[in-house]
Amino acid sequence: MKSTIILLAAIIKFTHCTELDFVSLLSEIADLELSEDGKLNFTQLVTKYGHTAEQYEVTTEDGYVVKVFHIPGKRSSVLLTHGLGTDADPYVIRGHDSLGIALADKGYDVWLLNNRGTKFSRRHIELDPDKDKKTFWNFSFHEMGYYDLAATIDFVLYQTGEEKILAIGHSQGASQFFALTSTRPEYNEKIKLFLALAPGAFFFNMPLLFQIGASAGPILLEIGKTLGIEELCRDRGALVTMIKTICTKGVISYEVCVRAAMFPFVGYNPTGLELSFLSTLFGHAPSGFARKNLEHYDQLYLRKKFAMFDYGVKGNLDKYGRRNPPDYPLSKVTTNVAIMSGKLDTLSLVHNGKVLKKRLPNVVHFEEIEATTHIDFIFSADAPKYLFPSIFRLLQKYD
Ligand SMILES: *[C@@H]1O[C@H](CO)[C@@H](O)[C@H](O)[C@H]1NC(C)=O
Ligand SMILES: *[C@@H]1O[C@H](CO)[C@@H](O)[C@H](O)[C@H]1NC(C)=O
Repeated sequence: MKSTIILLAAIIKFTHCTELDFVSLLSEIADLELSEDGKLNFTQLVTKYGHTAEQYEVTTEDGYVVKVFHIPGKRSSVLLTHGLGTDADPYVIRGHDSLGIALADKGYDVWLLNNRGTKFSRRHIELDPDKDKKTFWNFSFHEMGYYDLAATIDFVLYQTGEEKILAIGHSQGASQFFALTSTRPEYNEKIKLFLALAPGAFFFNMPLLFQIGASAGPILLEIGKTLGIEELCRDRGALVTMIKTICTKGVISYEVCVRAAMFPFVGYNPTGLELSFLSTLFGHAPSGFARKNLEHYDQLYLRKKFAMFDYGVKGNLDKYGRRNPPDYPLSKVTTNVAIMSGKLDTLSLVHNGKVLKKRLPNVVHFEEIEATTHIDFIFSADAPKYLFPSIFRLLQKYD
């Protein structure tokens, strides 16, 4: 087994499929066909759509420096956390039809966390993400909750003088929220309502394609480890540059990047993600994350539990004092939680949203959203029609 992995790793290394030495060269010569909004950065987009954006750097207890964006408004604060492989950008890339800006248009005071490892938060007070790879990239959604989200909630409370805030998390943004509030229950007191959009926690009865991918996960991740790949989808890296180049070439890109590569995993909905939007989307996505994070998600699926990271028997005994990693104690998530599941979502399935609802003690609202896939929650052209009215009603009710 081990030798097969090393052999595969050597072949991949040789054929240059991954982030290796020619990284910066590729990004220099790549020609991306981006729209105006695909080229503008977060600050410039927010300004273009009528608001102002501020940036803060928040240092976590374990030394990571995460960037937090702020779109000031007069109403209560709402904190947004993003999904795996993205950062705060997608919350503003459809202008007034994106959640971040729509909330600002309603007068909310909007805060957006960029988790450790994303293109905005690739920093640590001591560790170098390139030289100290093994230690810098040693995190999953667990640390994004336990440290990044905790520090950001405290920072927002401190900045605004509020005692509690509203929060919304998409997919991994919900995983990290439940990791935090179950292990540090005092954070429940700081939240008025948490709205989980397509939460990533339970993965029962997954579609066949997902099962195949996730079952191959351990081997692929082991190859990555052998190759020394700790960081995935690095901004301006070879792989990301290649994806962006291929995915911004019109009709053919739509077939390759969306119909063939995206829809089978997240759900099929061409009206939510239209061809002309690709030249904006791929100016902003994907964003970096740790291999360990993917490994943690794969474990959730394989072990059928929303549990802490599995370090193997010896590692678990060292770290947790038991052979298996503990489940996150969801009974400790006492804050108000609302869950929204997309009817077309093939990654965070409606019935898994219901499983989560049963395990949490205080779910105040559960809703199935029409015509919505996993990614439609964040940047569907139809989100203002199917999703936003429910979100606004809930925020108002629990504010
Ligand atoms: C966007 O670009 C402007 C101009 O270069 C810069 O001042 C600003 O900090 C950038 N914003 C972000 C979020 O990187
Ligand atoms: C990664 O983190 C775990 C748990 O915090 C720790 O036990 C392990 O030694 C760390 N590994 C590295 C390479 O830093």
